[in-house]
Amino acid sequence: MKTDLRAAALAVRENAHAPYSGFKVGAALRAASGVVYTGCNVENIAYPEGTCAEAGAIAAMVAAGETVIAQAYVVAGSPLPVTPCGGCRQKLAEFGAGDVQVTMATVEGAEQTMSVADLLPGAFDPSFLGR
Ligand code: THU
Repeated sequence: MKTDLRAAALAVRENAHAPYSGFKVGAALRAASGVVYTGCNVENIAYPEGTCAEAGAIAAMVAAGETVIAQAYVVAGSPLPVTPCGGCRQKLAEFGAGDVQVTMATVEGAEQTMSVADLLPGAFDPSFLGR
């Protein structure tokens, strides 16, 4: 069931601060508890200081005391479903198991769903640190 995630992502996207790119993004994560956390992109005049919607949603989840993503949804006003940037794929992999489904979407309603493992093959994970 992801209609609630889509609604949450669309709603938070309205709050995106994207005056430089004009590209608003909304993300919603269902955590292991079932609670949905949301985030939007927050750009900055010092461009590299901007943050992605996925990062905001993950920060909200962790700040609330949760560390396990069960399902994710990202929506943007793009012609094709928006795909998370490389950094956000790594962030999603930190809290989402390989089989966690990430649905990417357009505002119009097109969707594409991929697993975290398919989004980030060969992920750098704790095994490389011998843990
Ligand atoms: N952006 C996201 O928030 N998430 C994505 O998955 C793709 C890109 C943001 C970053 C920047 O504020 C704007 O979209 C244009 O790159």
